[in-house]
Amino acid sequence: MMAALNPTSECEVQGPEFKGRVCVTGASGFLASWLTKRLLLSGYHVTGTVRNPGNDEKLAHLWRLEGAKERLRLVKAELMEEGSFDDAIMGCIGVFHTASPVLKPTSNPKAEILEPAVEGTLNVLRSCDKNPSLRRVVLTSSSSTVRVRDDFDPNIALDESSWSSVELCEKLQIWYALSKTLAEKAAWEYCKQNGIQLVTALPTFVIGPSLPPHLCSTASDVLALLKGETEKFQYHGRMGYVHIDDVALCHILLFEKETAHGRYLCSSTVMDPQQLTALLATRYPWLPIPKRFKTLNRPHYDLNTSKMRSLGFEFKSIEEMFDDSIASLLEQGHLTLGPTNVSY
Ligand SMILES: NC(=O)c1ccc[n+]([C@@H]2O[C@H](COP(=O)([O-])OP(=O)(O)OC[C@H]3O[C@@H](n4cnc5c(N)ncnc54)[C@H](OP(=O)(O)O)[C@@H]3O)[C@@H](O)[C@H]2O)c1
Repeated sequence: MMAALNPTSECEVQGPEFKGRVCVTGASGFLASWLTKRLLLSGYHVTGTVRNPGNDEKLAHLWRLEGAKERLRLVKAELMEEGSFDDAIMGCIGVFHTASPVLKPTSNPKAEILEPAVEGTLNVLRSCDKNPSLRRVVLTSSSSTVRVRDDFDPNIALDESSWSSVELCEKLQIWYALSKTLAEKAAWEYCKQNGIQLVTALPTFVIGPSLPPHLCSTASDVLALLKGETEKFQYHGRMGYVHIDDVALCHILLFEKETAHGRYLCSSTVMDPQQLTALLATRYPWLPIPKRFKTLNRPHYDLNTSKMRSLGFEFKSIEEMFDDSIASLLEQGHLTLGPTNVSY
């Protein structure tokens, strides 16, 4: 169901600055915290969902955001509880669904990652369907829904028409990519059947400052690389990179731009780990950046991001991503300017 912005809502009361209320699921996460910051700065009222609203330590960074005291509301919601998002979503003109497990399952991929991603997304969409004020849902998908396949021409950059192979993800046990692929497919099917306007953002590996003091999985991988570890980036292999601020701004643009439709890759540049670490070692000679990675037997790929760029969007450079990320890691004490960064 779809509706125009309700003209009798808080809009008239709050003046021209007020842009309406939107919901961000998983608001305390790495990406969602930055998205919440950007939404507040651009005048939205934000309802963020979190699993434990009583955890002051985990949520303090959200309450410190500009505009939070006046325009942020935090509500408890759990992906696997039916109807859990009803209250948070009701009355919102937009929903940014970012909550999804970002982890490597330990023993039970179905319960740990696949069900929360797929069933959780459908649960959120069922709440969206009950909300007559809803204009659009922006789902945070991933470039891993595009590139895990072995049947493409490496000379042609992959674009949004490409879908990762479910069979290949299962065979190689790439559970995260499988969870995101199945969740996005389920979302498209549900939204088509129920007349919900959906746009999906497909970020590559997100780099940038972490607002939460506890580092999420991807930010921890970056920290480990900067401390000299090769393991995670060896596993990731060739990857696209994008600045966290760009991902947040893309989400907002995809919500606001009426003509936005379908899927949008959000990525600045695709690099092999050797290329990335050569650049990092030159730029940050004081860090023990690893130099050698094994060459993997995986298909070469590039990403075509012309769809996002056609909306007038320009992505920040890889240098800016790491400058900002490292500055934040230093400020938070995860890195120091000296030999103590080496990890054994
Ligand atoms: N980081 C990247 O490089 C990257 C790239 C592409 C796409 N993405 C997508 O971006 C989104 C955010 O990822 P992130 O990197 O910011 O990771 P993150 O910090 O781990 O955020 C994940 C969020 O999902 C929430 N969540 C997980 N399971 C949940 C459940 N069962 N019920 C309710 N909430 C649940 C987490 O809540 P808790 O805080 O309570 O655990 C957390 O807020 C994900 O959809 C991810 O797939 C990330």
